[in-house]
Amino acid sequence: MRDFFVFLGPPGAGKGTQAKVVAARLGIPHISSGDIFRENLKNQTELGILANEYIKVGKLVPDDVTVRMIRERISRTDCGAGAILDGFPRTPAQAKAFDEILKEIGCQINKVPYIKVPEKVLIARLSGRLTCRAKGHVFHKLHNPPRESGVCDFDGSELYQREDDKPETVARRIRVYEEQTRPLVEYYMDRGILVEVDGDRSIDLVTSDLINLLEEVEKSDV
Ligand code: AP5
Repeated sequence: MRDFFVFLGPPGAGKGTQAKVVAARLGIPHISSGDIFRENLKNQTELGILANEYIKVGKLVPDDVTVRMIRERISRTDCGAGAILDGFPRTPAQAKAFDEILKEIGCQINKVPYIKVPEKVLIARLSGRLTCRAKGHVFHKLHNPPRESGVCDFDGSELYQREDDKPETVARRIRVYEEQTRPLVEYYMDRGILVEVDGDRSIDLVTSDLINLLEEVEKSDV
């Protein structure tokens, strides 16, 4: 049985922080659309250069480009037991396309944890976020600092501030989330697979709730 989970929530809710840990615990891949775009930009691919035109101003990358990229990623062999999706789907059109992709391979989304965090907390988190150049590991200057300043604890690479974490871009990303992504809360709630998780708590407490939730699904597969 393949288990697919979608981590939903606004920018800065902690989707990436949590998805990395939970995916490692469950032994399934963490697929972050944002990380794939940033990796492509680092390698100066056509996809990366195109996506960056949208990312740097806080807009969404067009649906067709994003869906094509995720379809290819899901088809890889490491998704044989499922995956955690972080940052995708992000529009109703992407959600419908994702349902179709999963249907084609005889799967469906098992659970959608919706990580809720108040807006003022989001802004503080994004303005202090530090991201690792090599693998996208995430830290925070105050809430989750690296052991050595400017250096990733996991792979020793340089930590940097994302260009889209500037205050004016953050404000736009939150607006775009409200307009284009929030409708997915109702979409998945209507399907009975959305579970609200209070993301305004310590990283460890949120992780523990998410692991319990996802392990329940895995146990019910057996
Ligand atoms: P993406 O990279 O997906 O960004 P996002 O959704 O805006 O989410 P973030 O990465 O900003 O936040 P997060 O929820 O992962 O929080 P994190 O764990 O880092 O997308 C970037 C751009 O790519 C988009 O704007 C768009 O242009 C494009 N894109 C991506 N996907 C797309 C799609 N499907 N369609 C179209 N375009 C797409 O945590 C944030 C900070 O808070 C960190 O510093 C962390 O250490 C800290 N923190 C986390 N949890 C806690 C906690 N519990 N307590 C205290 N601090 C915490």
